[in-house]
Amino acid sequence: MKVLATRRYPGPAFEELKDVEVGSPSDLHAPRPDVEALLVANEPVPLELLPGLRIVSNFGVGYDRLDVAELGRRGIAVTNTPGVLSAATADLTFALILAVRRRVVEGDRAVRAGAWTGSWADGFLAEELTGATLGIVGLGRIGQAVARRAAGFELRVLYTQRTRVDSELAEHRELDELLAESDVVTIHAPLTAETRGMIDARCLARLRVGASLVNTSRGEIVDEPALVAELVSGRLRAGLDVFAHEPHVPEELLSLPNVVLTPHLGSGTRQTREAMTRLAVDNLLAFERGDPPATPVLLP
Ligand code: DGY
Repeated sequence: MKVLATRRYPGPAFEELKDVEVGSPSDLHAPRPDVEALLVANEPVPLELLPGLRIVSNFGVGYDRLDVAELGRRGIAVTNTPGVLSAATADLTFALILAVRRRVVEGDRAVRAGAWTGSWADGFLAEELTGATLGIVGLGRIGQAVARRAAGFELRVLYTQRTRVDSELAEHRELDELLAESDVVTIHAPLTAETRGMIDARCLARLRVGASLVNTSRGEIVDEPALVAELVSGRLRAGLDVFAHEPHVPEELLSLPNVVLTPHLGSGTRQTREAMTRLAVDNLLAFERGDPPATPVLLP
């Protein structure tokens, strides 16, 4: 089975693909009648250029840039890599929560700029995490991993999602209540037609003064210009790993002290990225053998 990969994916599992061409995302813009399988990282797939395509293996849990409905109509299988990245993404979420709440990056910049006067007793006062309320938007695998970590920080944990679940990790709230009650809101929903722009200006206005918004899911879930306006006004804080038009980051955010910015690092540990490659490759190898892939999004 001829595989086109949009990069060399990290880890030894990648070498198990026999007939693989290592390209780049721009290779998806040329006609490739010979390609039967794609290994992509949520890059859009121009189906008209790939008449022989049988499977798309997505490196990542989110596949919002793939036209799954059209892939299904054409009888093309789609797989993704859920589960293996939940811990790394939850860890990064906590790194952002701590960084924002405890002004870690602001402090680092001050030290490097020589602006630390030597007094520790009254400078850089931040907000305690212990005892604060954390609101989780989306209690799926990653949301639950965040909730488990939150227990260690003695946080009160709320969650909201369309389907209410019985959970010992978090108490359910409607979105509006969760926003109003939380000191920190963290987003762990997939990007869908329903969640695109879900955290809009009205939602942001419901957050408490000084509350923090953390996003390690997809930038498009938040109305980015509305968030930028709130951050420029200084009313909110944010830890953002994802943006609406990556790798573009709104210019206004770059100089703000109340925002921590990271370049879509959620799953970015060596161990996790290698595990993602393992799963993405295993899905291709299973499909080639005629076995069901372990983590299908859709099978023909
Ligand atoms: C995913 O898996 O969708 C993530 O965005 C990768 O970090």
